[in-house]
Amino acid sequence: MNPKIILVTGGAGYIGSHTCVALAQAGYRPLILDNFSNSKTSVIDRLATLMGDPPLCVEGDIRDAALIKKIFHDYCCESVIHFAGLKAVGESVKQPLQYYDVNVAGSLTLFAVMKDFGIKHLIFSSSAAVYGEEKEPPLHEESLLHPVNPYGRSKLMVEEILEDLYHMDSHSSIVRLRYFNPIGAHPSGLIGETPSGVPNNLMPYITQVAVGIRKKLSIFGNDYPTVDGTAVRDYIHVMDLAEGHVAALQKTERSSGLSTLNLGTGRGSSVLELVEAFEAATGKNIPYEIVARRAGDVAACWADPSAAQKQLGWGATRDLRTMCADSWNWQLRASFII
Ligand code: NAD
Ligand code: UFG
Repeated sequence: MNPKIILVTGGAGYIGSHTCVALAQAGYRPLILDNFSNSKTSVIDRLATLMGDPPLCVEGDIRDAALIKKIFHDYCCESVIHFAGLKAVGESVKQPLQYYDVNVAGSLTLFAVMKDFGIKHLIFSSSAAVYGEEKEPPLHEESLLHPVNPYGRSKLMVEEILEDLYHMDSHSSIVRLRYFNPIGAHPSGLIGETPSGVPNNLMPYITQVAVGIRKKLSIFGNDYPTVDGTAVRDYIHVMDLAEGHVAALQKTERSSGLSTLNLGTGRGSSVLELVEAFEAATGKNIPYEIVARRAGDVAACWADPSAAQKQLGWGATRDLRTMCADSWNWQLRASFII
């Protein structure tokens, strides 16, 4: 039997590329649609090495309806995993129109063509950013939704659009996944996260300090009401996240419905705990200084992942040490292979 083809928008990106590997391992054939605005075309060759076969790939934009129609004409796709989008919180405040255009209008274009072609299975990349500042951990899917920046609002808007689409067609099967803090990389060191410019996120900053690109880490605040004063997050290995997508896809194949699920570990780690775990896993010293809090950061945020466990039979299995070791393994290779 031919493997099922899954359209993976944004499949060349950080989470998308790892999900392509997990899909291939589970017997699916990913078809990547990516405009490479935040990824490199060389990832396709590296994916071919990891998957055994090159992934199908179309270069283009999710806002291009004609292109998506052509894809659905040319390939028989039953399901879509929709990662493509812009994800930098700070940038979204400066360029809200761009964020609403790509994240919301782009999603609408994709959903309209899916409807025309009768494609009813969809996994959507949402974010813990939809919970906003008033979040009290652990976050349940029913926790208050109050995004505090255009990025988070763009994700919530798409979640709401999907609710309306499900009510329009109750034979459809839609899973909205809210990710917490993905870090780590494939253990091969062939794919990982490649932030452009100065990293906004903690783990890429740590690995760049470790490799000597940056002098020291600035820790944003040590006066939070947490175990050591630094902010707490739910870090999850990107391969656990990728496997969560395969489980979600299998759920869409079993039954119709609309689900919203947190993908996190259920455990919080402080900034200092992550730094210590990285030092222990890699033997590298991470110099740091404590600076002022970063605007918009909450003290603590971690998931209640029990709904995903119950509905998908999925749970994160990789520990903080593995996340740190795999992030470092990727950082060491990244400058040579991308
Ligand atoms: P990424 O930037 O690495 O991947 C996104 C991919 O989409 C990139 O390859 C980019 O080139 C592509 N893309 C962007 N705009 C496009 C467009 N208009 N048309 C076609 N392709 C386009 O990001 P990621 O970390 O892999 O995140 C994937 C998804 O998960 C995003 O929707 C993001 O908002 C969401 N998410 C990420 C995180 C995180 O911390 N990484 C957390 C929560 C949610
Ligand atoms: N931090 C530092 N120094 C840095 C970078 C980060 O101390 O150089 C701290 C932050 O203040 C925060 C923690 O490390 O307390 C984690 O910060 P990240 O930027 O890595 O992650 P966030 O939790 O702020 O946000 C991430 C994504 C969002 C997503 C959210 C989901 O960037 O897009 O996770 O919870 F919405």
